[in-house]
Amino acid sequence: MVADPLLSMVHPLTDKVVVDLGIGTGCLAFRAMELCPPRILIGVDFSSAGLCVSRSISKHTRFRNMHIELVRADLERLPISNSSVDVVLSQATINLLPDKAAAMREIARISKPGARIAISDAFRTTKAADDESWEQCIGGTVTVSEFTAFASSAGLIITGQIDLTQQVRMLVSSKKWDWPEFIEHNMDYRGFLLLRG
Ligand SMILES: C[S@@+](CC[C@H](N)C(=O)[O-])C[C@H]1O[C@@H](n2cnc3c(N)ncnc32)[C@H](O)[C@@H]1O
Repeated sequence: MVADPLLSMVHPLTDKVVVDLGIGTGCLAFRAMELCPPRILIGVDFSSAGLCVSRSISKHTRFRNMHIELVRADLERLPISNSSVDVVLSQATINLLPDKAAAMREIARISKPGARIAISDAFRTTKAADDESWEQCIGGTVTVSEFTAFASSAGLIITGQIDLTQQVRMLVSSKKWDWPEFIEHNMDYRGFLLLRG
């Protein structure tokens, strides 16, 4: 429900080198492979458990002839060459990174000039809480203007935006996404299209 609108921002992926940052169990990456297989899909995550699930899905007959590489690494230090990627994807992951500025610089570094970057995540609608008692997946969130500042200081230009808040609220309300804090803390969920200048 939130993957397709994000992927539509970077469609088509044919002949592209695509990286999914924080691939986890692969729900965004494998949806991308189903809709329009890229030339190469590289999934990065530091969780062996997530990569193990992704690896087993990648062996499914549907994906058998597709070029998929799964890499265990920290998103703040990517083992990917400079200017080598056409499309970067990332869903519900940027929030979790302690150094978001470093991660945005890494995205800019690996992206070819003109590369498209689609990132979706939750955003705070108010400034950071003083007590740092916010739950994981919410505690690291930034506001849209803070995100915009990280992107622009890394040389990434925001060229599109979609508001997916209502879709995420529906998923949480119908218990399809176990994330009650999203509603409790009145978060927004946005997808951004950025361009590497
Ligand atoms: C909430 S999950 C989202 C997974 C997937 N993108 C999805 O939409 O289902 C966040 C993922 O980011 C990964 N992650 C968090 N911090 C990371 C870091 N510093 N380096 C690499 N992966 C990280 C986690 O292991 C997890 O798989």
